[in-house]
Amino acid sequence: MPELAYVNGTWSTIEAACVSIDDRGFQFGDGVYEVIRSYDGRLWALDRHLRRLEHSMRAIALTGAPTAEVKPRIIELFERGQMREGVVYLQVTRGVAPRRHAYNAGGQPTVVMTVRAQHAVDIQLYASGVPAITVPEIRWSRRDIKSTNLLGNILAKQRAVESGAYEAIFVEADGRVTEGSSTNVFIVRKGCLLTREKGPHILAGITRDLIVETALEQGISVEERPFTVEEMRAADELFLTGTGTEVLGVVTLDQQRIQMGRVGDLTRALLDAFHERVRQARDD
Ligand SMILES: Cc1ncc(COP(=O)(O)O)c(C=O)c1O
Repeated sequence: MPELAYVNGTWSTIEAACVSIDDRGFQFGDGVYEVIRSYDGRLWALDRHLRRLEHSMRAIALTGAPTAEVKPRIIELFERGQMREGVVYLQVTRGVAPRRHAYNAGGQPTVVMTVRAQHAVDIQLYASGVPAITVPEIRWSRRDIKSTNLLGNILAKQRAVESGAYEAIFVEADGRVTEGSSTNVFIVRKGCLLTREKGPHILAGITRDLIVETALEQGISVEERPFTVEEMRAADELFLTGTGTEVLGVVTLDQQRIQMGRVGDLTRALLDAFHERVRQARDD
């Protein structure tokens, strides 16, 4: 199971791969990325990830790496890596240039990819649920762009880890919840799902969308709208979604229990339904 890297057409081990220190990704975080996992030797939701990559690139006027050209490289990387349960990390930056804030449109972007083994979430956590904390939303106002510039997310996650929690959930100054540092957030109220609507406030998570679609297929109603931290604390269930996280129940928030402090029935049912969808390879 070789772990491999690709940098602008050059294949190597991950250790041997390098980019210039003048790369705008390194200097400014001027780039976008995707994380794509595989299940049983098949890349999951690849086209959805590519559509989101396209959205991110368009939003920052990053040209020169059309997804039609990137897609076969991703597939080749994945095939070379021979992973059954793997993760492809893909980053496109605005490339190498003298360090100036303004960029020259039409420069040559840097495309970096790696494939590695997937380090799945400890299976016990799906049964026990995880603790989360709330943190002030300090990030910029274009969270729909999957930017490599993740300082706000990193600082939040660090606070979570240092306080023994799995995730930090961002709350805006007016009390509205956005998302986790690397996950989307759902609450359950009276059998209905509630999650923040798509738009600039959150990343349009691929798993989020799949869970919304799966719930609707099962006749569960879903509201996509802002909700407050009070609504979250009073929820019947609270869970996180993400590519690596899948569907993970939160049982304490800022050390206060959510309901009985157990993973909720709907959370479990949606995780099962998600796994069934994976088995059916239904990711279009
Ligand atoms: C800020 C943020 N929100 C949500 C998600 C979940 O998105 P996805 O389900 O596409 O992995 C991520 C994933 O990395 C993220 O970084």
